[in-house]
Amino acid sequence: MAGQKHFLRTPYGAYHNPPTPEEDTELTHVERGSACGEYLRRFWQPVAIASEVGELPLKVRMFGEDLVLFRSRAGEWGLLDLHCSHRGTSLEYGVVEPRGLRCCYHSWLFAPDGRILETPGEPPSSTLKDRLYHGAYPVEEHDGLVFAYMGPPGKRPDFAPYDTLAMPDDRLVPYYITYPCNWLQVQENVMDPAHAVFLHTRISFSQFADAWGELPVTEFRETPTGMIYITTRRWGDNVWVRSNDIVFGNIAQVGHIWEDGQEPKLYLRVGITRWTTPVDNETCRIVGWRHFHPDGDPGDNADEGKCGPESVDFFGQDGARTYEDRQRIPGDFDAQTSQRPIAVHALEHMTATDKGVLMLRKLLRAEIRRVAAGGDPKTPRFRADGRIPTYCHDTVVRIPPDGNGNDDALLHRVGERITDINIEGAHQDAADRDAQIRRLIAAYAESENGSGH
Ligand code: FES
Ligand SMILES: [Fe+2]
Repeated sequence: MAGQKHFLRTPYGAYHNPPTPEEDTELTHVERGSACGEYLRRFWQPVAIASEVGELPLKVRMFGEDLVLFRSRAGEWGLLDLHCSHRGTSLEYGVVEPRGLRCCYHSWLFAPDGRILETPGEPPSSTLKDRLYHGAYPVEEHDGLVFAYMGPPGKRPDFAPYDTLAMPDDRLVPYYITYPCNWLQVQENVMDPAHAVFLHTRISFSQFADAWGELPVTEFRETPTGMIYITTRRWGDNVWVRSNDIVFGNIAQVGHIWEDGQEPKLYLRVGITRWTTPVDNETCRIVGWRHFHPDGDPGDNADEGKCGPESVDFFGQDGARTYEDRQRIPGDFDAQTSQRPIAVHALEHMTATDKGVLMLRKLLRAEIRRVAAGGDPKTPRFRADGRIPTYCHDTVVRIPPDGNGNDDALLHRVGERITDINIEGAHQDAADRDAQIRRLIAAYAESENGSGH
């Protein structure tokens, strides 16, 4: 944990900097034996885009472990330790067969569950293959992404059926981007909405839309699945309320990127559902789906063709641009990866804009400690239709300034009330929760305009 906070109190004081303190290992380290790694292993984690894996195996790395993913010619997914149990040859050079993956070196054949099916160089009397197993993890495919469960076998949960994975008129398109830095600084960026004002708008150009440059009234709230931010902005006669989700373990949901606050809309759901996967202590991967919805792209900016391996359809998300270009107009990738390979919390000076990041760390630490003490991760609530409610949305309502000269108070009230509707009430458990929320928000906005506040 962090030691004494260090402040320099003289100009030209860099000479007096103390040695760099240790990172917050409890929250950041994810490799074998780490508390955070053990916590995140209790959830299904995405390891690849299904369409990347054809007739050849794919080398992947998770939690600091090197693995090989393949789909047997009978269609069964397998995720095995990369190095052959015989003498260590990488199974990425193996041959995919109907029953499993065959090592190229001496032809041992491994089943998707790690059974050793053949050791053809051994005498027929050898019982080696009946006594040994090769390391394997369970795999499932969902909507074009391949997920692995890498936790204790007796604790494997069902794949979580979040509401946003089955929305009408919504298409899920898989993508991923590898970040050469620790997972937490990428995940906690989602609870730092102030950076959208600066990095994404005022520092550079309107990377999304002009309204993003307006400093919002900002709050944070705990939800049954994690936490949200609530940003409430004035844009003309409109009030735009936006919330992004953190869903524990390591999921984030981001609203539609191209939202511009111009047109009234009620409870438009997510633009991205993504995991920040722990590749190793100093590498992570954003893996998830871009959601394509007819209402989520007012300026016609979305581009499904740009979403896939190491690519997504909005600015500054990867390191593919030239160094000079990234220096001149930095994006999320540059801001986050340059916080050091593992951001050092003891060197930060947290301010009013960092409340969400601090809250996320606190909630995450409590979850990690509960699991470390032998407990289970928090169980989410389920709707009547078996889906788990999440809370990310954009809502734009026409509520002009009330003329009292304190618009922030009005914005604060609108944000809080809409969030109450989003999180609380009997409709949370209903199968038509989103429709009920839309009706309740519309009625509330009407009452706000008619109330003479
Ligand atoms: S090293 Fe794989 S079969 Fe020998
Ligand atoms: Fe961002």
